[in-house]
Amino acid sequence: MKEANYKNILVEQDGPIGIVTLNRPKVLNALSHELMDELVTALEAFDQDDSIRVMIITGSERAFAAGADIGEMSDETTISIMLKDRFATWDKVRRVKKPIIAAVSGYALGGGCELVMTCDIIVASESAQFGQPEINIGVIPGAGGTQRLTRIVGKHKAMEMILTGRPITAQEAYHYGLVVKVVPVELYLEEAKNLAQEIAKKSPVALKLAKEAVLKTYDASISEGLEFERKNFYMLFSSEDQKEGMKAFLEKRQPTFSGR
Ligand code: HXC
Repeated sequence: MKEANYKNILVEQDGPIGIVTLNRPKVLNALSHELMDELVTALEAFDQDDSIRVMIITGSERAFAAGADIGEMSDETTISIMLKDRFATWDKVRRVKKPIIAAVSGYALGGGCELVMTCDIIVASESAQFGQPEINIGVIPGAGGTQRLTRIVGKHKAMEMILTGRPITAQEAYHYGLVVKVVPVELYLEEAKNLAQEIAKKSPVALKLAKEAVLKTYDASISEGLEFERKNFYMLFSSEDQKEGMKAFLEKRQPTFSGR
């Protein structure tokens, strides 16, 4: 899929930052299969591009995304949805190696909230709201919501959100550690870019291994996770960036990272 052919997203580069804007305004950025295919294509292209260090996924002021596209799903049966297995695409977002920041304003509901939680850091506008309303349409979260939300906000809050379908405000999301910062609506993208710029200065190889190790907590026991983290830590001692970073510290100067 060529960039020019994207119909549901906008893609741009701002220095070391790759930005994808979800762009189906008429349906509050409902995450159709086609949109998800485009999103994954764009993220994977950024992942391959050495000039990109950090990615941002954002939507509009009114909606980050109001969920998977209900119109596309309504007539599915268990067998048809399983055979198509279109939601497997979502796993590819999880496999992106560079850091992804979600810049969220307005609705982040259902699959929208799940997509946000698949990102690595979330910055929110004051108008953002996060929720898993699937219960209201007779289903449950299907792209990681029961797992990720529970780990982030704890069992009881996750149960309340998933069983009632009620969203939480940006402030509540901050309180529960779902978002790292809440800013006025006109600033959320800028805030995400500032954070991305800060992260983009770090060693790309260290960023990749750090992200990989943090994510290991999701699919490993604590002892496996600790071992994995230590292995990645040791591995970095064969990078030029480790030598340069530590040397620069001792020499009281800023490091120049090469990514090797
Ligand atoms: C398809 C959607 C949509 C969705 C909104 N729209 N959400 N279309 N899929 N998820 C469409 C509406 O049908 C409407 O189209 C237009 O967007 C504007 O929405 P309104 O409802 O008119 O806006 P508003 O009254 O402001 O209400 C906003 C809202 C509401 C509270 C966000 O739209 C809503 O409840 N949406 C559904 C949220 C939801 O249930 N999400 C979970 C989906 S399931 P028209 O043509 O009428 O203008 C899911 C499962 C994930 O995500 C599983 C694994 C991936």
